[in-house]
Amino acid sequence: MEVVHVELGARRYPIYVGAGCLSELGTRLGEMGCGVRMAVVTNSTVAGHYLEPALVSLRRAGFDPATIQIPDGEEHKNLAMLSRIYDQLIEAGIERSGALVALGGGVVGDLTGFAAATYLRGVACVQVPTTLLAQVDSSIGGKTGVNHVLGKNLIGAFSQPRFVLADVETLRTLPPRELTAGLAEVIKYGVILDAPLFALLEDRIADVQALDRELLVEVVRRCCAIKASVVSADETESGLRAVLNFGHTVGHGIESITGYTRYLHGEAVAIGMVAAARVSRQLGLCGEPDVERVRSVLARCGLPTEVPAELRGEALARAMRADKKARAGAIKFVCLETIGTTRFERLSPEDIVKYL
Ligand SMILES: NC(=O)c1ccc[n+]([C@@H]2O[C@H](COP(=O)([O-])OP(=O)(O)OC[C@H]3O[C@@H](n4cnc5c(N)ncnc54)[C@H](O)[C@@H]3O)[C@@H](O)[C@H]2O)c1
Ligand SMILES: [Zn+2]
Repeated sequence: MEVVHVELGARRYPIYVGAGCLSELGTRLGEMGCGVRMAVVTNSTVAGHYLEPALVSLRRAGFDPATIQIPDGEEHKNLAMLSRIYDQLIEAGIERSGALVALGGGVVGDLTGFAAATYLRGVACVQVPTTLLAQVDSSIGGKTGVNHVLGKNLIGAFSQPRFVLADVETLRTLPPRELTAGLAEVIKYGVILDAPLFALLEDRIADVQALDRELLVEVVRRCCAIKASVVSADETESGLRAVLNFGHTVGHGIESITGYTRYLHGEAVAIGMVAAARVSRQLGLCGEPDVERVRSVLARCGLPTEVPAELRGEALARAMRADKKARAGAIKFVCLETIGTTRFERLSPEDIVKYL
């Protein structure tokens, strides 16, 4: 098993990455020293695959786990579901010393993280991500929260987990489309900060999709190391952490105008990354060969790379303007310089759509 640390002083925590390491959940939680009574929060889909192994591991380590199961789906990442989680935590007798284990993808992780940050003014949280997106992105960095009818992730808190345990074996049951969407974020890390990782993906993307065990551990570990270092340098996104938004300005715009139904997040980000590379090229910041490398590796994964014609223009500009990260009309847009290097440019939504 590999270990990467998120360096945050007294709140420093490990990310464990391995193949088959779910069985070590109880041991790791035992090392953390929390109360025996604790809860596993998961959803109906993930429970069918991994709840039992997680409970066995916890019980073997002496824990008395309660289980809280939520329905599957982003539409349940809301205040009503959070309230039901609080109800069940109280009924289960979870005390301040207890921990919450988030077993699932980013939806379970965000909800559980926020429940842990607020229940009894804060109990320990452990992330056990089971989607590729959650393993390389959402489980790390302490952004927790729920959606509001007026927008995604509008309510939440920065609250770091005590550790993250990513078992790449869980990816074997993930629907292929979800795996591929997660790969968009993996490729993003290569593009923004790790040229050798990008080259490795260019070389072996088919093996990653075929779930080559050793390669997956290596790729997930490297992505976790990148996210960890960015979060360590800028926990609350006052500066550098915004580099992680590469491809997300256009990506979020596309998700928003298609009502979050047509594309998975990673698919929209794939389109957004090619768009960001093209904008960078138009601004003279990067060359055409780098744009083509980004487009080509995404396309080989089976990810979309073009903004559909009907979504171009004013509708997309309006959606980007409404994004909570746009301030006073100018967006802090992440541009590509070369593979592995980026820079921020203040751009208007109109500039961005003009260059697509
Ligand atoms: N906190 C952050 O920093 C951060 C970052 C990025 C995204 N997010 C959030 O993450 C969420 C998306 O996360 P996601 O992509 O993991 O989606 P998700 O949690 O909805 O999971 C995708 C689907 O895969 C299923 N699933 C999960 N693990 C499985 C497994 N091992 N086998 C079979 N099926 C499995 C889920 O039940 C679900 O149907 C969004 O709500 C987004 O806002 C948060
Ligand atoms: Zn993303």
